[in-house]
Amino acid sequence: MAYEWKFKARPYSDEEAKKLLSSVVSPETSDWHYNKHHKGYVAALNTIENGLESTDRSAANGNYSEVGELKRRFTWNHAGTLLHDVYWEVLGGDGDVSNGPDVKAAIEKEFGSVDKWKEDFKAAAMAAKLSGWGLLVYDQLYSGRLLNVLVDEHQYGAIWGGIPLISCDVF
Ligand SMILES: [Fe+2]
Repeated sequence: MAYEWKFKARPYSDEEAKKLLSSVVSPETSDWHYNKHHKGYVAALNTIENGLESTDRSAANGNYSEVGELKRRFTWNHAGTLLHDVYWEVLGGDGDVSNGPDVKAAIEKEFGSVDKWKEDFKAAAMAAKLSGWGLLVYDQLYSGRLLNVLVDEHQYGAIWGGIPLISCDVF
């Protein structure tokens, strides 16, 4: 029995999203990103899990094989799902950074000020390609620092052991 990935509920309803997120994303865009785009990644993950149940692993090679494509698309859809989960969790709010004093202090320690962090975060997001992201990542496995990371296509540029704290979808 293949593992089943779940489409995670946002911390608000689709109706609430229209109002809550209206200052940062249009209702149509929010709905499309969640109910088509994000949901599609979860559906694809489950299709891939089912495919991996029966694929011929002995056919794997560096050019083309079904198992190679399933593994490759798994990473893409996994990253797309996870980053959207983070995105919906952190999007919106009143923008008052004093609501998160620990994160604010950590950002100031690493970047000098919240404004300097924003400038660098925005630049990372603006420079991302295709279905890319700007991410604030806690580099837990390696340096212990907060890093603004540019990711192209959900996963190219991801930091190993880096925990995404804030994700900005730039698709
Ligand atoms: Fe998206």
